[in-house]
Amino acid sequence: MFPETQVARCARILLRLGPAHRAMVWVVQLGVFAASGVLAFLLRFEFTIPEAHWKHLAWGLPVWLAVKSLAFRLAELDRGWWRYVSITDVVRIGLANLGASLLSAAVIMAAGPAGFPRSIYLLDLVLCFLGTAGARVLVRMLAEAAQGQGQVSGKRVLIYGAGAAGIQLLEELRRNPALPYRVAGFVDDDPGKVGLVVRGKKVLGQGEQLTELVRRHRAEVVLIAIPSAAGSQMTRIMKLCHQAGVEYKTIPGLGEIIEGNGLAKQIRDVAVEDLLGRSPVRLEEGAIRAKLAGKVVLVTGAAGSIGSELCRQVARFGARALVAFEIAESPLFELEQEMRRAHPELEFWPEIGSVQNLERVREVMERRRPAVVYHAAAYKHVPMMEQHVFEAVENNVFGTWNVAQAAKEAGVGDFVLISTDKAVRPASVMGATKRLAEALVQSMQGSGTRFVSVRFGNVLGSAGSVVPVFKKQIAAGGPVTVTHPEMRRFFMTIPEAVQLVLEASAMGRGGEVFVLDMGEPVRIRDLAENLILLSGLKPGVDIRIEYTGVRPGEKLYEELSTLLEDTLPTPHEKIRVHSGNGLIAGDVAECLRALRRACEARDLADVVLALKDALPEYSPSAELLRRIVPPKAAHALVQQARA
Ligand SMILES: NC(=O)c1ccc[n+]([C@@H]2O[C@H](COP(=O)([O-])OP(=O)(O)OC[C@H]3O[C@@H](n4cnc5c(N)ncnc54)[C@H](O)[C@@H]3O)[C@@H](O)[C@H]2O)c1
Repeated sequence: MFPETQVARCARILLRLGPAHRAMVWVVQLGVFAASGVLAFLLRFEFTIPEAHWKHLAWGLPVWLAVKSLAFRLAELDRGWWRYVSITDVVRIGLANLGASLLSAAVIMAAGPAGFPRSIYLLDLVLCFLGTAGARVLVRMLAEAAQGQGQVSGKRVLIYGAGAAGIQLLEELRRNPALPYRVAGFVDDDPGKVGLVVRGKKVLGQGEQLTELVRRHRAEVVLIAIPSAAGSQMTRIMKLCHQAGVEYKTIPGLGEIIEGNGLAKQIRDVAVEDLLGRSPVRLEEGAIRAKLAGKVVLVTGAAGSIGSELCRQVARFGARALVAFEIAESPLFELEQEMRRAHPELEFWPEIGSVQNLERVREVMERRRPAVVYHAAAYKHVPMMEQHVFEAVENNVFGTWNVAQAAKEAGVGDFVLISTDKAVRPASVMGATKRLAEALVQSMQGSGTRFVSVRFGNVLGSAGSVVPVFKKQIAAGGPVTVTHPEMRRFFMTIPEAVQLVLEASAMGRGGEVFVLDMGEPVRIRDLAENLILLSGLKPGVDIRIEYTGVRPGEKLYEELSTLLEDTLPTPHEKIRVHSGNGLIAGDVAECLRALRRACEARDLADVVLALKDALPEYSPSAELLRRIVPPKAAHALVQQARA
């Protein structure tokens, strides 16, 4: 149409009008009102208005100017930024014109000179609508042309995903020239969209053609704009970007998008969480809020990965006060800083102490009087607990018993034990102690406090878990160590798991063991490869993956999905409830006494036997058996267990 530079100059002059903007809007608007009236007469009389009708024009013009000015003022059409005009604005312009034309016609018919040509009303309405809406659309086109020109220094990008998010991103990038991106076009996997032009940018091709598209359009960055992408979809796109040798970034998933913040501002690097899937957790916020709002809530292990996220979420749901019970001083100090900064309205009470000390737990419960307790303090590292059997029992079994006992005495309403999938048919000391902890809290049900447990698999990125370990190994130049090529684990993000814990505990009546459905297990080798790719390196070329062998107490596959067979659905699709009675074989008090005696005597064999007596499904690791029984008997037991 125009040479680009002229368009840009013209638009920049319009955009720079600043304080004169509103006056300018009025001048243009009044000009359009007058011009459409005159043009309506000219068109009606083939550009020669007969003298007899001059009086009609003279009457009509002031009426139209006054009524339309009033209507546009009432519809607040005199104050919007024309460069951002939208379909909704155009509809409002249409309605304001219609209203103004009807009112003007009524005034003219009632008070004006007789013989006013009726077709003029309709002609004026159409012309005025085209003029007032057209002026705005023109300004927007000029503004966008100017911004496109202003971005000559930005990186050329392809937007992956021509859906609502991709279009919104394009608009924001156009509107904000400060962002360093120039959009070359869209990429979309829907073949039906290829070739379409969306808001002036073409859908250039599908993901499989990315290498060619990047080359042809000299794209330097791919912006992935699919907030609802499944993990497999994100992994595929990441691999396509690697093949194309192009930098890639993403906008966050649905659960993470901060409303009102604009998508362009939330562009970030792809994180390993994105590759696990991004479906947001559906929460019955009302039920959770009813349980937590205005209450005092106590979290044990509050500075840990699960505990600290529990604290954040509990604060989000409007708790009155939070008691953070924790043995580790510095992490608790950091949590305190964070919580005071993020939630100044919340009373935050840090309490140093060990769950192994019943008196200390009692003291805190009596002083703070919590209504809800989340018990997340535990020892959780499987191989380490095989080497520290007494400590695992002390912390996970007696620690849980202490917290549950003190909660019962203090009249706590709800007690929630954070458990693990390793408690299912335990093959490790850690798993067995957590299974016993579940049974303990279940046996306490009926005392007034509602006791529930929530089991789930690994969370991504928790302290000491694979992701931080792999990241350190990659940073050190490798190798990344994986125990076995087929090792698989369930993964959830920490916020997802904790939100489901809150949801499950809100639906608990007491005595249940809830099980979170973790979806599909992830192969650790794939996770390692994806992390290497995310670091911009090639697995097997830049960073080696080394297989170290399965460690004592570790399973190749975890059994959450097997466990789901013994569960019943709940109203929430990702939460199931264990259908067995969950109690241990024999008497709880007797089992605790046997364990206590064995721990005090530091008798490893007796501890393992007491665990095995209470939990017949527990299979101690071969390595542990070798430490407690003579070699021949151990061999026989291992053979028996294998059979
Ligand atoms: N991380 C996971 O992947 C995952 C998955 C499922 C279940 N869980 C369960 O969640 C619980 C917490 O795990 P996490 O990943 O947050 O572990 P973590 O090590 O990050 O946190 C545990 C916290 O408890 C504290 N703690 C330990 N012993 C204590 C004691 N005697 N008194 C007071 N505080 C004590 C620790 O200082 C630490 O801050 C564990 O029971 C674990 O089995 C964890």
